Amino acid sequence: MALPFFSSTRTIPDISVVPRHIAIIMDGNGRWAKQRFMPRVMGHQRGVESVREVVKACRQMGVEYLTLFAFSSENWRRPADEVSFLMQLFLKMLEMEVSKMHQSNIRLKIIGDRSRFDVKLVKYIEEAEQLTADNTGLTLTIAANYGGRWDIMQAMHALSLAHPERATAFGEEELTPYLSMHYAPEPDLFIRTGGEQRISNFLLWQLAYTELYFTDILWPAFGRAELEAAIQSYQKRERRFGRTSEQLKGETDA
Ligand code: IPE
Ligand code: IPE
Ligand code: MG
Repeated sequence: MALPFFSSTRTIPDISVVPRHIAIIMDGNGRWAKQRFMPRVMGHQRGVESVREVVKACRQMGVEYLTLFAFSSENWRRPADEVSFLMQLFLKMLEMEVSKMHQSNIRLKIIGDRSRFDVKLVKYIEEAEQLTADNTGLTLTIAANYGGRWDIMQAMHALSLAHPERATAFGEEELTPYLSMHYAPEPDLFIRTGGEQRISNFLLWQLAYTELYFTDILWPAFGRAELEAAIQSYQKRERRFGRTSEQLKGETDA
């Protein structure tokens, strides 16, 4: 297993540059469709366009990691026909987009519990990850049937299996190699569209010190300009990770 990134809470990233890692909860598809008197699923369909635009903008801006929440472990509670539409849309996206992503040097990763996906979808996911594994451009992660609590539990389980002799006393840094996103630094910027101000079981561990940005814009209406606004807001923040503002400015001894 590759060496994990150490927690970003140790070093303070340069705020003036574009965030290295942006994580987004793409919310508001259903409401976007409803406002237009269309079925909810049309909002999901239109949301794919926003994904394309945001991926392109991130590549052009030099963002290294983009992580998108596509389907939560709680979304199975939705009506069966909506769940089935979302699964089909995911499969279709992979079929249509993976070779283009590969040409664009994108490394694609899918995180989440695959045990409830049908075999065809699992096969596509594995093939897509293999094909793009050595790409060096944007790392695009799609969180599908993902839950932050599931992730922490599966990591804890894997860690204890790897060390059956150790009953207790694992350190935080021993867990991180087993988390789904062990290959990426923690997100610098979190964006949630659609107006809700909650995390909804997204990357619980990794968001510990991420800058949060909430916007009322519904996901299908989110594009490059809205992403730039979020990044501008991020660039005005002061990331302190527990220190004082004076320490950061070098006014007192750190
Ligand atoms: C987000 O949009 C997409 C998924 C959860 C799959 P929603 O479907 O949650 O849209 P709203 O929140 O109902 O408007
Ligand atoms: C969160 O959206 C999950 C995704 C965007 C995939 P939801 O719309 O399902 O979130 P809650 O349940 O309203 O918080
Ligand atoms: Mg929603």
